[in-house]
Amino acid sequence: MTNKFYITTPIYYVNASPHIGHLYTTLAADILTRAHKQWGENVFFLTGTDEHGAKIAQAAGDFGEIKGFTDKVSEEFKDAWKLFDINYDYFIRTTNPQHEKFVQEFLTKLYKKGDIYLGKYRGLYCTGCEEYKKESDLENGLCPLHKKKPEKIQEEVYFFKLSKYKEKILASVGTDKFQILPQERKNEVLSFLKQELEDTAVSRTKVSWGISVPWDKKHIIYVWFDALLNYLSALEINKSPNIWPPDVQLIAKDILRFHAIIWPAILLAAGLELPKILFVHGFFTVNKQKVSKSLGNVITPQELIDRYGVDAARFLLISAFPFGSDGDFSFDDLDKRYNAILANDLGNLVQRAVVLAQKNNIKFIPKNPQYSEKIKAQLEKIDFYSACEQIKKAIVEANVFVNETKPWETKDKKTIAELLNKIEKISVDLKPFMPTVGEKILTQLKTLQPEILFPKK
Ligand code: MSP
Repeated sequence: MTNKFYITTPIYYVNASPHIGHLYTTLAADILTRAHKQWGENVFFLTGTDEHGAKIAQAAGDFGEIKGFTDKVSEEFKDAWKLFDINYDYFIRTTNPQHEKFVQEFLTKLYKKGDIYLGKYRGLYCTGCEEYKKESDLENGLCPLHKKKPEKIQEEVYFFKLSKYKEKILASVGTDKFQILPQERKNEVLSFLKQELEDTAVSRTKVSWGISVPWDKKHIIYVWFDALLNYLSALEINKSPNIWPPDVQLIAKDILRFHAIIWPAILLAAGLELPKILFVHGFFTVNKQKVSKSLGNVITPQELIDRYGVDAARFLLISAFPFGSDGDFSFDDLDKRYNAILANDLGNLVQRAVVLAQKNNIKFIPKNPQYSEKIKAQLEKIDFYSACEQIKKAIVEANVFVNETKPWETKDKKTIAELLNKIEKISVDLKPFMPTVGEKILTQLKTLQPEILFPKK
């Protein structure tokens, strides 16, 4: 397919309800989707939920039936994305029988090829991460992310010959054929790949909630092998075979190794092309603490909307700090930025211009501008922060223009018309970030009916 743009988010575990961490990645994917659509590309945006494995079975605990539990939480994710005006093309669930069948067939192919063999695993496992751990991965004997002691496990498993693909991955990452961004994440992957790489387990026998290995039913396919294949199975389920490979895969740093090492090895084993860009964003904390249920600082997408409205919340979240870095988030900071950038700089600007045009009887003549080249280039590099800074700069410049030309005194028609077109340009660039506000601004310009866009906090 020409001009295609395939973008994915991780599929989220359904052990807990969606929070702003999940929202951050999914929103980023939605903004890129809308931007690429605005530039005339054929976009396919995939997201979904990861529903197998011990972690989910444990979380389902009191609920009783596991599938019922995953149905419920998976819906919560869909609802959250709807609230935030996130328009994905397909929502994949790993409990979808079509996905399950795809995973079984895929594994069988690798088995027949000789890339899967039976062995014994003896070592550590963190159910929170659903990951095999080495002593060197731990801090004081605990998983650094979950602060828990990993389980010692010993079981018969099938292994995948990960080590066989090491050199090829190294070459693809090194040459940016498979580009890992930002640079520091690429370096991290390269140095990891320079060490010895062990084969990885792709089945477990002590877990029952999952997809069985078709030729050996007492084995359940390792949840990460199952989950990673969603990026492929979703296309088959949707009958969209011509959009492989992904143009951009968004993840956070917690799941880098799975996506930068195991995933490309699986694809190479199947003779498939690697994704073009893997962008690894930072982690965010709320009030300087990791977002967690037990700390009680989980902010739901609904709370953000109640406070700022959908579009403002989208803009504030994505422009809070550079996408590749870690950052902190607090209502205090969001309130300040909301008042300064949105209520004052943008809201007042539009209001002033529309009232001026109305009073002086000036008609808005649309110029239908193209998307700004500079912002486009920044979004192509997945640099939301700079793109937003650029938009903010245009808003500030338009304010300076009004203050310097003083059209309320001069009543100069040309100046007012020029101001309207400056605002038109800003609204076009803003649309991927604030789809409704972008439209509302255009409507106000056309009708010259002022309406408050951002009530002050
Ligand atoms: N199910 C796996 C992913 C499988 S993909 C084939 C998983 N799920 S998760 O629910 O734990 O989601 C992890 C992802 O959620 C992160 O990579 C990131 O995209 C997002 N985030 C969750 N918490 C976050 C923060 N506190 N900050 C930023 N992103 C966060 O891992």
